[in-house]
Amino acid sequence: MYEDRRLRIVVVGSGYVGTTMAASFADLGHQVTAVDIDEDVVEALHAGDAPIHEPGLADLIERHAGGNLEASTVYDSLAGADLVYLAVQTPTDEAGNIDTTALETAARMSGEAIADQPPAERPVIVIKSTVTPPHVETIRAAAAAGAGDETLEVAMNPEFLREGSAVSDFREPDKLVFGTSSQRGDDMLTAAFEPIIEATNPVVIRTDPDTAAMIKYANNAFLAAKISLINDLGNICKEFGIDAYEVADAIGADDRIGEQFLRSGVGWGGSCFPKDVRAIIQAATAAGYRPAVLEAAVAVNAEQPARMLELLDEHVDVEDQRVAVLGLAFKPGTDDVRNSRAIPLIEGLQERGANVVAYDPVASEEMQARIPEIEYAKSAARALDGAVGALIVTAWDEFETLDDAFDAMDRQLVVDGRRVIEPRPGMTYEGLTW
Ligand code: UDX
Repeated sequence: MYEDRRLRIVVVGSGYVGTTMAASFADLGHQVTAVDIDEDVVEALHAGDAPIHEPGLADLIERHAGGNLEASTVYDSLAGADLVYLAVQTPTDEAGNIDTTALETAARMSGEAIADQPPAERPVIVIKSTVTPPHVETIRAAAAAGAGDETLEVAMNPEFLREGSAVSDFREPDKLVFGTSSQRGDDMLTAAFEPIIEATNPVVIRTDPDTAAMIKYANNAFLAAKISLINDLGNICKEFGIDAYEVADAIGADDRIGEQFLRSGVGWGGSCFPKDVRAIIQAATAAGYRPAVLEAAVAVNAEQPARMLELLDEHVDVEDQRVAVLGLAFKPGTDDVRNSRAIPLIEGLQERGANVVAYDPVASEEMQARIPEIEYAKSAARALDGAVGALIVTAWDEFETLDDAFDAMDRQLVVDGRRVIEPRPGMTYEGLTW
């Protein structure tokens, strides 16, 4: 081991999770090398710049770049490492299956880089990317083939970071999941996280790699389904003229249910929930089981934007009319628009022939790259000016205090998908589930 408690850690793949993890491990005192085939990413890390936007990350990279955080496009550093993390992205195909081609290549190349070492001195290879349990063996086999050693172990250490708080989530996790098949693998992961275990005492789950992979999917599937269930119940509440948030507060007081992730509305988006729920449905179906609850969770989520549009339709015909879309990011605190609920809403308005004017405090540029043909306003007030209706899609704080800006609407009609604003006198206000 490197010095007393320091490890030499290589992180292959400098995407969102890989970069956060590399910088955070460096900050814990480990000697980290980030390996990525993209020269621009490696250049950025060398220069001390963060290739992605995440609160606190730029500081960590600036502080440790050139010191105990290095970057490289080649796999040379693997031979001297204690731990090698595979954090390569796994894109999804049309059907929702994950594509592990790049991850397999990274695993094989990692295996090749350590092939000449005696097994006891090799680094422990750990999968960080989200892969379904059957894929754990695919990745292990690729690494084993590269190393020319069929018995090579590959561990699984899934990630539960949230966008917008990834750096602090790394520092203060609720739980750590170590999926290993040997004591050495477990010792190495324990050593890597020792400063965190000592400081914050998270629950540490020690299990096998397949179970670790399943825990990650179960975690995201459970949370996504929890939101879909409260949305399903919320839709019932709306039909009965009942406030779903009052109901959610009451049921959340039951410890068995818990108060978090009960905000009903236009549903879940982002890079994880939609991708992971579909991937585990696909993997389960391929194995011969159709997960009915998860399929329903996806179906409810897909319908929520249409329900918002129906509420708008009840009050106004938007053809050739100006309609404001407030909020484009998939959640507040990020400029990420992947699977944002704003996308189906904008498309639905376009189908109705509306003139869409969108506003987001930080995500307009990202959305413009995807949907260039609509108008993007510089402020929420400008988006509302002259509109016959407004849809609130992301729960940005600034939307809570728009007040007088609504006066500039041609018609004060607001459909709120996130329970952000208080209705004003003279306003026609529709909450999605309240
Ligand atoms: C999620 C998981 O929380 C994280 O553990 C995993 O590693 C990656 O996926 P993230 O995608 O960053 O993290 O977002 P999260 O804060 O969990 O929100 C996901 C979506 O659910 C957002 O679109 C959010 O608006 C929505 N949501 C969340 C609700 O609609 N209601 C809620 O009560 C909570």
